[in-house]
Amino acid sequence: MTTILDGKKCSEKRLELTKEKIEESGLYPRLATVIVGSDPASQMYVRMKHKACERVGIGSVGIELPEDATTDAVLDAVRRLNADDDINGILVQLPLPKGIDTEQIIDAISPAKDVDGYHPENMGLLFSGKPRFSSCTPKGIMTLLEEYQIPLSGARAVVVGRSIDVGRPMAALLLNADATVTICHSRTKDLAEELKRADILVSAIGKAHFITPAMVKQGAVVIDVGINQLDGKLVGDVDFAAVSGIASAITPVPGGVGPMTIATLMENTFMAAKEQVCGSAE
Ligand SMILES: NC(=O)c1ccc[n+]([C@@H]2O[C@H](COP(=O)([O-])OP(=O)(O)OC[C@H]3O[C@@H](n4cnc5c(N)ncnc54)[C@H](OP(=O)(O)O)[C@@H]3O)[C@@H](O)[C@H]2O)c1
Repeated sequence: MTTILDGKKCSEKRLELTKEKIEESGLYPRLATVIVGSDPASQMYVRMKHKACERVGIGSVGIELPEDATTDAVLDAVRRLNADDDINGILVQLPLPKGIDTEQIIDAISPAKDVDGYHPENMGLLFSGKPRFSSCTPKGIMTLLEEYQIPLSGARAVVVGRSIDVGRPMAALLLNADATVTICHSRTKDLAEELKRADILVSAIGKAHFITPAMVKQGAVVIDVGINQLDGKLVGDVDFAAVSGIASAITPVPGGVGPMTIATLMENTFMAAKEQVCGSAE
């Protein structure tokens, strides 16, 4: 029987836990979001993040900049938030409009407030096996795998995608959990061959129903990060109906990885507040 990895249910549990921990700590963590332009998907994600903050007892402020904002204007907003002692976490919603130097913006975020974990310092710590802030989507996936007691040590994990927000940190987290990791991308030769060997398959490509049963090993655990529109419906990278017949466990879209990302952002923001106020995240 195939297990559906229920990210919605797991994220509810995690949000409740974070809320309790924040109450116990007596802290009032605060997250600032920065959004540039009016992309409807980005606006929706930011709204969901603010709603989650409210639910767990994190204060949130939203900085909105126009579509034609310059890199300097975004840098200015980030630097002001870096200097603001009332702000513990900073999240710049990606993707930024064309013309803005995303790398420069990420590099400008104070590593101590970088709750998305994209800053090179945090990425370096993650890859050296001493993570501070790990990117929310991959870290949320690790929490989901743990919740369902999916064994990772010695497992052959294949990650498709090498972005800084998903593919790369996902590979590092799986490696830190003692999996044997392969990273695939658009230049990978014979992708199906690589995927067929995966005990754990993570797809972060952004192409609807790209992963078919012919690419999946019988009994594999399949994690679908993709969010795509197909015939007016939200679908993942994985052909869920066909692949769930082969997989031992699989995440649905929606209701799989997405909710875990937001729950993890709350955990990272609380962690940042503890580190800044108490000098330690413990
Ligand atoms: N659920 C969530 O919370 C969440 C969070 C973040 C992202 N997402 C979704 O996850 C997907 C990926 O996001 P992302 O930010 O990682 O995207 P991205 O930056 O566009 O990266 C996509 C990756 O897929 C690889 N790729 C593209 N076509 C391929 C192919 N035919 N074969 C093999 N690899 C291929 C690309 O390879 P190259 O590097 O060679 O170009 C790239 O590394 C999107 O649908 C996004 O919306 C979901």
